[in-house]
Amino acid sequence: MCGIVGYVGYQDATTLILEGLQRLEYRGYDSAGVALLNGQGIQVRRDVGKLSNLRAKVDSNPLHGHTGIGHTRWATHGAPMERNAHPHVSMSGDFVLVHNGIVENYLELRAELMAEGVRFDSDTDTEVIVQLIEKFAHNGAQGDIVEATRQAVKRLRGAHAIVVMSQVQPDRLIAVRIGNAGGVAIGLGDGENYIASDIPAILDHTRRMIFLESRQMAIVTAQDVTIETLDGQAITATIHDVPYDPISAVKGEYRHFMQKEIYEQSRAVADTLGGRIDFEHMQVMLPDLNLTPEKAQAIQRLVIVACGTSYYSGLIGKFFLEKIARINVEVDYGSEYRYRDPLIDANTAVLAITQSGETVDTLAAMEEAREKGALLWSIVNAVGSQAMRVSDGYITMNAGPEIGVASTKAFTTSIVDQYLLAVYLGQLRGTLSESERRAYVEALPKLPDLIGRALESAPQIEHLADLLHHCQDFLYLGRGINYPVALEGALKLKEISYIHAEGYPAGEMKHGPIALIDENMPVLTITLKDALYEKMISQVEQAKARGGMVIALATEGDNFIATKADQVIYIPETPELLSPIVAVIPLQLLAYAVAVKRGADVDQPRNLAKSVTVE
Ligand code: M6R
Repeated sequence: MCGIVGYVGYQDATTLILEGLQRLEYRGYDSAGVALLNGQGIQVRRDVGKLSNLRAKVDSNPLHGHTGIGHTRWATHGAPMERNAHPHVSMSGDFVLVHNGIVENYLELRAELMAEGVRFDSDTDTEVIVQLIEKFAHNGAQGDIVEATRQAVKRLRGAHAIVVMSQVQPDRLIAVRIGNAGGVAIGLGDGENYIASDIPAILDHTRRMIFLESRQMAIVTAQDVTIETLDGQAITATIHDVPYDPISAVKGEYRHFMQKEIYEQSRAVADTLGGRIDFEHMQVMLPDLNLTPEKAQAIQRLVIVACGTSYYSGLIGKFFLEKIARINVEVDYGSEYRYRDPLIDANTAVLAITQSGETVDTLAAMEEAREKGALLWSIVNAVGSQAMRVSDGYITMNAGPEIGVASTKAFTTSIVDQYLLAVYLGQLRGTLSESERRAYVEALPKLPDLIGRALESAPQIEHLADLLHHCQDFLYLGRGINYPVALEGALKLKEISYIHAEGYPAGEMKHGPIALIDENMPVLTITLKDALYEKMISQVEQAKARGGMVIALATEGDNFIATKADQVIYIPETPELLSPIVAVIPLQLLAYAVAVKRGADVDQPRNLAKSVTVE
């Protein structure tokens, strides 16, 4: 989950590394650090908390040099304290390292090294790596950082992304990727080269990138980049040209990235649709799925794997894929999937949904599917990410960079992607009549406008947030395709405002949660004019009968609901299957407004990180 940046070249490394870390702060903000080489040994500055603390430290005690590494930490082993902040330096001071991942056997390695006289300065698992590198450099590797790193990483269990620097060979940085602890991108420059855990850290400087695969190592100097396997076999790596959208990566007029990303959703959804609808024939085109009618017809089951918000998006996708493409769909948490010996065969398609494309649990589920012979697809936002690279076919979200830790536009665009997928599969499998296909496709171009109209609820939601921001608990109720929207609304509120919130299938309320309802418990009901409207009205009545304060999300023109609920938020009428995309907008706005009123750190909520690259 941590962010890593490395630089070797002719420019001021500190400036470039701090700039890069700023772009990666969403990765973790427990501490940050930078290490530089400048002919006077390894110079390190580290501090706890946000990057601004490290910046202040560097301003008061500057660091200059042309080679360096930096890190922003999401703590796993060892509390967020300065001595546990990366970079970590080896005992003699010759080697320094930043790391993303968990050394699963660190206790055993630490004991072994301590028995040999190594002194540890931190409580982290990471420090064993740099001490091992030093040990091998002094014994057997004749001081060679490449060989020492190779030998050291062979001793590690778990998944890792590592960058090492040494004052003994100061012209180079060594990067290693093992498993799925987050990506390692090597950015190619002219007389300079970059390393980063995520592309945005270095996109201002280069768009030409190599992505390390698992068990590969990069030896990076100012003039040259060599890629090898961990056994020392040279590899001819593919150079990718990564698209860059500088406007999307800045906050502009908005107070927070999350706010900007909520408001971007009309545009984002338009971009998701762009080029994927053939309006002449009213059909969907998804060439990057690499699918033929024969392959599509052979699919008997589809399994969606994802985490967090992407998982809730998958729960909605199940409705589309079953109804439109007539495929049996299961949705599973990436973090659970591989622990139950799932049934997969060549007629199973596995679809991973992941904004970052680097979530370790989702990648592990994909690996499991790959090993068992499934057809592997992904819906990703981060172009060039691991999930996209390992898939047989993919659909990009085209949402632009999502920086706020709370996912918003990735939710709506990934739902749109699944709808496109369902129609596309329906076309290839012949499960749709011409009129059905037209009706499904025709609904899509209206979405950006419907989202725009839902965003107009913002002033009313500000007012609601005034009433509600002191509450301690919330219940969100939805049914059918909007039950996952209740889950997502609750997740948004809890992660950025730290209010306890539960999303529940409305019909289940009477089986337990109804006991929670009293006058202190706001109950937000998704009560749209759809097939389940009357059932939802019964839930509203039941909540009111227990004294709950009901806030109903309703369809414009529904005056009846106003006679039942305490507050009503209206959204425009939307075809039922697409309604989650519009219904979630006021819930995102509500979570945002409540969090701002509570003074919470919206873009970087406590304990969280944007991309979860540890298990
Ligand atoms: O990058 P991914 O879509 O794989 O991330 C999955 C979850 O970690 C992510 O959706 C998380 O739940 C967000 N913080 C939710 O807002």
